[in-house]
Amino acid sequence: MNEAKITIVVDSRYGSTLTLAQAIAAGAADAGAEVRLCRVDITEPEFSIDTGRADFLAAQAEYRALPRASAQDLEWATGIIWGSPTRYGLMSTPLRAFIDEIAPLWRQGALIGKVGAAFTSTGGMHSGNEMTLLALLMPFMQHGMIIAGVPHSVPALVRTRSGGSPYGASAVTGFDGALGVDAGEKAIARALGARVARLAGQITPEPASVELAASAAESPEAAS
Ligand SMILES: Cc1cc2nc3c(=O)[nH]c(=O)nc-3n(C[C@H](O)[C@H](O)[C@H](O)COP(=O)(O)O)c2cc1C
Repeated sequence: MNEAKITIVVDSRYGSTLTLAQAIAAGAADAGAEVRLCRVDITEPEFSIDTGRADFLAAQAEYRALPRASAQDLEWATGIIWGSPTRYGLMSTPLRAFIDEIAPLWRQGALIGKVGAAFTSTGGMHSGNEMTLLALLMPFMQHGMIIAGVPHSVPALVRTRSGGSPYGASAVTGFDGALGVDAGEKAIARALGARVARLAGQITPEPASVELAASAAESPEAAS
């Protein structure tokens, strides 16, 4: 087993996706991994935050105190777990902007062979939770990574009546966010973090240049 190095990249405005990220981080650390928990830039205007809610403002302060994720944090890691609130059935724009920003890593094939997993938080039960998880997993496949979900051997996944899915960790927070993240959702998030750490400890990433592969495909030898 190698020492697993896990980078968690989170976007969160009201704190529930951040709570999931913290549970994932705790699970990965319990499994022996070194963990980096990072945020992305906030790109939308401040009106997206309810400034009348002390809990939201506290969550914002906690979020902003995290280090800003960089491409180097992903190169360092053997496992990458990213997540955002669901926005209109999709991942959030700030996380998507970060994923676009790491395009040079795709060209270098720098993430090939690493383990990837996802998490999200939604207001509603059936309004984009699993769709967002699947969308979050797709960039990992483009990067040549190995996808990890949550197996049904996790008891909280079998019992859940709220968030948590075979496709990743999730929370259903209610229309006004009042439900927060329940104990089962946290348990599933911890299990995902631990699982990615265990898997990442067993693999050796296999970086290889995508550009060199393209030029080799154009050479006469490749045609023969
Ligand atoms: C612009 C915007 C779009 C949203 N779209 C959805 C949606 O499509 N489905 C849903 O269930 N919740 C939606 N929500 C609610 C958030 O996903 C939900 O409040 C989430 O728990 C927030 O995560 P956070 O606490 O980490 O900020 C939306 C919220 C905002 C501000």
